Amino acid sequence: HNIAKYILRYNLILKPKKFEDQILVQKIANIYFANPIGLAAGFDKNAEMIKALAKFNFGFLEVGTVTPKPQLGNKKPRLFRLESDKAIINRLGFNNYGAIKFKKNFQKNYANELPIGINIGKNKDTKSQTKDYLYLIEYFYDLADYITINISSPNTPELRKIQEAEILEEFIDSVNEQRNLLGKKNLFLKIAPDLTKKQLEDICIISLKYNINGLIISNTTIARENLTNKKFSSETGGLSGRPLFAKSNQMIAAAYKILQGRIPIIGVGGVSNAADAYHKIKLGANLVQIYTALIYEGLNLATEINQDLAKLLRQDGYKNISAAIGILSK
Ligand code: FNR
Repeated sequence: HNIAKYILRYNLILKPKKFEDQILVQKIANIYFANPIGLAAGFDKNAEMIKALAKFNFGFLEVGTVTPKPQLGNKKPRLFRLESDKAIINRLGFNNYGAIKFKKNFQKNYANELPIGINIGKNKDTKSQTKDYLYLIEYFYDLADYITINISSPNTPELRKIQEAEILEEFIDSVNEQRNLLGKKNLFLKIAPDLTKKQLEDICIISLKYNINGLIISNTTIARENLTNKKFSSETGGLSGRPLFAKSNQMIAAAYKILQGRIPIIGVGGVSNAADAYHKIKLGANLVQIYTALIYEGLNLATEINQDLAKLLRQDGYKNISAAIGILSK
């Protein structure tokens, strides 16, 4: 990861040609997306690589997770590559330089050619989790196209409890109040794939009630299904990549059935080619994000997916990507 960071920061690799195709263009939450393939949170935790990443034909970038204060995260080893499963288990624990350094990096490295989201989380040792989020929302308010409230990392104790209906409603109520004070802003919520049907339903209902602008489905899973590689399967942490694909898809489909397009869905989990991305779109995702497959396939992946996705859409007779969204979940 550090080598990749170095290469990106100093522009040491050939960048792909700019790829654009009208069939992939969408306007969501009042933001213009040239294509639906975004970089998921966790790759550029400190907003160091925005300028370089912007050249790789992503439709959008999500940077972070950033916490108010810097923190080191969990001790190493904390990242495991399950190569034969095209998967990763990580328990990094929000290692990042903190909000102040993040803001400096963000402003220095900013790229205005694509939408950028900032993903926020609480510090491990915080006394008031809500305060952490309110502080970060205010601190980053004018910088990003959207702010993602991450309540689904499995590597920060108690974080995922915020997803429980009663706690969530109180939390989102405070967040929404903060937004009303500051003015209009896109707030996305990033949720776990390990929720019950009822929990997902509650999250959708609360998100509708408080005008959440996007649901990111999903973060990594604590389940260990679909693994052939048993070597690291008992390691604590979040599993991402191919074994997460089906699980996150089920959540996307279930959420789409409830929301029916009223809140855009950003589908994440195990996407490694255009067919995977297209499947998530047909289940109800407006946009898609990738992370683990980038580690295995390299940084030209967004370009490849976009090229092939445009072909797949045309093969099926679509004039624009938006017509394909959710057709399998209606
Ligand atoms: C992540 N992910 C993540 N998500 C998030 O909201 N904040 C974060 O800081 C991180 N950090 C992180 C680190 C590493 C090493 C990985 C592999 C993943 C989760 C990521 O954004 C995404 O939701 C999942 O990885 C599922 O997508 P993929 O990887 O299967 O495409």
